[in-house]
Amino acid sequence: MDASAATVTPTVSDAPITTNFFAPTGRPGADDVSSEPAPDDLAAQPVPERSREIVFEVSGLSVHYGQSLAIDNVSLEVGANEITAFIGPSGCGKTTVLRCLNRMHDLTPGARVGGSVHYHGEDLYAPKVDPAEVRRRIGMVFQRPNPFPKSIYDNVAYGPKINREKGKLDDIIERALTRAALWDEVKDQLKKSALSLSGGQQQRLCIARALAVQPDVLLMDEPCSALDPIATSRIEDLMAELKRDYTIVIVTHNMQQAARVSDMTAFFTAELDDAGQRHGELVEYDKTELMFTSPSDSRTEGYITGRFG
Ligand SMILES: Nc1ncnc2c1ncn2[C@@H]1O[C@H](COP(=O)(O)OP(=O)(O)OP(=O)(O)O)[C@@H](O)[C@H]1O
Ligand SMILES: [Mg+2]
Repeated sequence: MDASAATVTPTVSDAPITTNFFAPTGRPGADDVSSEPAPDDLAAQPVPERSREIVFEVSGLSVHYGQSLAIDNVSLEVGANEITAFIGPSGCGKTTVLRCLNRMHDLTPGARVGGSVHYHGEDLYAPKVDPAEVRRRIGMVFQRPNPFPKSIYDNVAYGPKINREKGKLDDIIERALTRAALWDEVKDQLKKSALSLSGGQQQRLCIARALAVQPDVLLMDEPCSALDPIATSRIEDLMAELKRDYTIVIVTHNMQQAARVSDMTAFFTAELDDAGQRHGELVEYDKTELMFTSPSDSRTEGYITGRFG
């Protein structure tokens, strides 16, 4: 498991929200009755495509670890209520890019982030932004389930328990476990240690823990790689369900999984630069269907058909 994973858990900040970027943006024009055409004009109006709400706008992103450039010049947009998959060979920088989306690199010694990440139109890295609030709104689920050595209840209660009465907390916990498709399996044993759960149950518990602080986005770094096919399939079903209310970005090495669950796919690879140093780049980003049927770059095709990587 990633060494820093254990230190980063969903937390609730007492700090005031220092920007308005967490306010719901809504879809432009959705409630704008006054701009609707009169009935007589309707036939003449083209049907407008529902605009895609952008949650993350990543532009010219680079990350250095010390002197070493890990990823360079990554630009992409992540749409609301979509599942976006990051794929590519080991070491190409998928995790590095994912961690830029909730400022996890603030916690990595020597890591330096360049370029920009906007979240609902606001600069995520602006000095006024509270990183703890960022990580509450943008939760993370790791490769290996990492429940705390506490009860099932206390794992989910960990984030929201500050300033809550017990009754309210019980509701929050039931709701989060239900949303994570775990409630029916654990409702009679909430005081049992989380470590007594199976791997797949532990991963759903970690998802419940992330959901309990009411995030907007879930970042998932290979969430199924330690799970068997049945547990994997449950998490995939859960993701499809969750995307109605959340935006999800998932890193996966499983091509079938990316093809099955995601709306958009970003393919990264590591390229040698002129100095002989290897760094990750975004090769192609498009609708998943297109990426898997007619990718425009031969490197994407080579990877998804298993010719390299
Ligand atoms: N904390 C760190 N300190 C120094 N170098 C790092 C650190 N984390 C990642 N790197 C380097 O950055 C590059 C990209 O790593 P990253 O973990 O993002 O790749 P990945 O695509 O997620 O790989 P994998 O599929 O194996 O998880 C690699 O060369 C890696 O060695
Ligand atoms: Mg990784």
